[in-house]
Amino acid sequence: MSFYKSTALSRREVLLAGGATLAAASLTSSWSLAETSPVRSFKLTAGTRSSVQLAPHPHPQTRVWSYNRKVPGPEIRVRQGDRLRFEVENGLAEETTVHWHGLRVPFAMDGVPHLTQTPIAAGGTFTYEFDALDAGTYWYHPHQRSFEQVGRGLHGPLIIEERSPIQVDRDLTWVLDDWRLERDAQISGDFGNRHDAAHNGRVGNTVTINGRVPERFDVKRGERIRLRLINAANARIFALRFADHAPWIIALDGQPVTPHKAADGLIVLGPAMRADLIIDMTGAPDKRYTITDPFYRRLEYRLIDFVYGDRPLREKPLESSIELAANTLPEPDLRAAERHQVRFNGGMMGAMMMDSGGRMNMMEMMRSGRMWLINGVAATGHVMELLVTLQKDRTYILDMRNDTAWHHPIHLHGHSFRVISRNGQPTTHREWQDTVLMAPRERVEIAFVADNPGDWMFHCHILEHQAAGMMGVIRVLEKPQRT
Ligand code: C2O
Ligand code: CU
Repeated sequence: MSFYKSTALSRREVLLAGGATLAAASLTSSWSLAETSPVRSFKLTAGTRSSVQLAPHPHPQTRVWSYNRKVPGPEIRVRQGDRLRFEVENGLAEETTVHWHGLRVPFAMDGVPHLTQTPIAAGGTFTYEFDALDAGTYWYHPHQRSFEQVGRGLHGPLIIEERSPIQVDRDLTWVLDDWRLERDAQISGDFGNRHDAAHNGRVGNTVTINGRVPERFDVKRGERIRLRLINAANARIFALRFADHAPWIIALDGQPVTPHKAADGLIVLGPAMRADLIIDMTGAPDKRYTITDPFYRRLEYRLIDFVYGDRPLREKPLESSIELAANTLPEPDLRAAERHQVRFNGGMMGAMMMDSGGRMNMMEMMRSGRMWLINGVAATGHVMELLVTLQKDRTYILDMRNDTAWHHPIHLHGHSFRVISRNGQPTTHREWQDTVLMAPRERVEIAFVADNPGDWMFHCHILEHQAAGMMGVIRVLEKPQRT
């Protein structure tokens, strides 16, 4: 499969100016006879000079880093099969890149500094261009010093609509985020500190939905809402309980899944993970329902209220199908799969105390800020020894063990994988994910076809863990090689 096809480019382009709303137009070049996909062009400017009202009045605005002066950045909404072009301008005082999280893009477009591209210098620009292969809910963020750049507000949603969408009354995105604010509502500058790195990362004190501390969400009885959740937090794990509503999960990490309800009613999202929900508003008119998040013990909080208007939209919920058409991902052939062991180690109270699994002494590691390891190695940058080399178009199973006392959302670039087992038990839905949340001591098997050549990041998406070493590179060779 070729991910990168050259296209005749449209002359008229939709430029997304700073702060402007997204013009939704799909443009094909009318003069060209060649068969082309429509090209959708966007401009993203990373900057440091905006303020947003994260915390409610009378709190002052918070100074953030942002794309196009918005937090989250502009929602990019396109159609499956579109060709996308992003002109990125770096208005930061440091290098940056943009990574298109979860999208299967060609290697050179993946936005990993030094590995896939030279980082974009302060004041510089870079153009990304690729096809929107898979429909679903994705997001974009820098991959350079992401623990601070993402943490200060650089990230945005990227929604790829299905060619034939399912019927809903509203299709909404909630970018969930978490901030560590001081009393003056400014972002605490303690990014990258060792305590966060050695524990569960930078968990903040202020949760926002789409860049605001949420209050209420107005709904109508009988309404069907598609809610796209994106966890854009550095480290916070969300577990949402929707009061008397029982959402259907229809997609995870962008990829369709057999519609099902969460076993214990909790929608759990580690950093970088997404879930598309269908919520039928079955509550009573004029009633209020509180959505809570009990993930961290003793730190349960109220996220937002569903507030019902006095008039129902319809008496009975819609009965149309909520099943999404599958994307065309190559199906892993488990019988012919080659297995690789991956062990995660490190952190406080973890196996690191006894066994770093490898080559480094614990004290030395803590001092140097390298606290987390994959197969015994703590990464110090994006360029490193390969974790494993894969043959193109073969199926691989990664047999992963979390030998630490902490959760880790493990992300692979360039591919989606099926989660096939947890602690030896086959998963019910064999869900496709690009980021899988591993509980302490958990063992998870994932399977995928290595069909996208390149050197792909494989890392924990708790950005402080990633920066403190929990990162590796998996190479997929260009051509199948005979052994
Ligand atoms: Cu969302 Cu390697 O990143
Ligand atoms: Cu981690």
